[in-house]
Amino acid sequence: MSSVEIPAGLKELLQGYTVEVLRREPPDLVEFAVQHFTRILEGQKKNRGAKKRSTRPARKGVTFDTVSNKPSKVDDDEEEEDTIMFSACAVCAEAYNPDDDEDDDAELRIVYPKTDVQRRRLQDACRDILLFKTLEQEQFSEVLDGMFEVLVKPQEHIIDQGADGDNFYVIEKGVYDILVQKGGVSVCVGKYDNKGSFGELALMYNTPRAATIIATQEGALWGLDRATFHRLIVRNNAKKRRTYEAFIECVPLLKSLELSERMKIVDVVGARVFKDGERLITQGEEADCFYVVESGEVKIMITSQAKAGQQDEVEVARCSRGQYFGELALVTNKPRAASVYAVGETKCLVIDIQAFERLLGPCMDIMKRNISQYEEQRVALMGSSVD
Ligand code: CMP
Repeated sequence: MSSVEIPAGLKELLQGYTVEVLRREPPDLVEFAVQHFTRILEGQKKNRGAKKRSTRPARKGVTFDTVSNKPSKVDDDEEEEDTIMFSACAVCAEAYNPDDDEDDDAELRIVYPKTDVQRRRLQDACRDILLFKTLEQEQFSEVLDGMFEVLVKPQEHIIDQGADGDNFYVIEKGVYDILVQKGGVSVCVGKYDNKGSFGELALMYNTPRAATIIATQEGALWGLDRATFHRLIVRNNAKKRRTYEAFIECVPLLKSLELSERMKIVDVVGARVFKDGERLITQGEEADCFYVVESGEVKIMITSQAKAGQQDEVEVARCSRGQYFGELALVTNKPRAASVYAVGETKCLVIDIQAFERLLGPCMDIMKRNISQYEEQRVALMGSSVD
């Protein structure tokens, strides 16, 4: 029996093109394909040139000044044997196959020296970054090594929609508007408020930037260059897809999505484990995440207004494997309507609000239908309508 081998990188190439078509809705798919793949080809050529220029000679010692992040010279023997430091490579929209650069690991490793204080600030900023939540400890340390500080001024454009992707950013502080072109007009679709991360899409799918990000005040970011992001995060995503593909396909809410849409969800989810009794969500707090239970169980508890002073909570529902929660506040733009606790050790996949809005639009009808049942359920359990 003959077997067909799928060439490495084919899936990513076609996926990148599909994402672009869906985003830009070009009138002529063939013409758009020619432009898209020509840009990738040119990017690859440029990148190969940049790689050649930046390999061995760079060992002669380019590192980065801790404060300014500008490259500075170091003595050859000060360097660790397996660490090569080089300036961020030319930015281009090359297609990426996670297994391609297996041998380049040592060459691509960038280390930005940091003071203890900087490292602590960086660790705090990265603590809840979902994209880092499925990394092994060693990969996470490499990510931290490869991050560099970026101080930003009010009105500074960190990212412009349509540009090539250079860096991924983690927010340490500051408020950032998210603007997306809709019908030729720039619309503010959301904001990052002193936490979160952005700039992953162009690097993951080799597409132009999908939104403009503008600082509304002075802020501080931590950047991770494209090559390091590929090597650590995109390669980990390939593993994540293998791990979660079967599970995500069984989540009833996501059944109506295309496989590629489900995989895009997997690319941005983080996995979090909660101890028995741990509170995942607190009633009344602002919402920024959506959850799907992978294993274990959670109970949903409501404190009625009448009993608020006594901290008396009533259990209104439970969710187990494949079920979701945390959508209500994101859909209604209101504070959390209930608290959620782990029952036994529980593992959840977590999606941030930006990805929720971007990727779960097609499931909105199902969620809204379920939301309409919440009030009935609450009245049945607590005796009267609250609020
Ligand atoms: P990227 O396309 O690399 O650069 C712009 C970033 O904005 C994008 O990655 C996401 O991280 C972020 N973003 C936040 N909200 C949206 C949105 N609604 N559409 C597209 N990108 C968004």
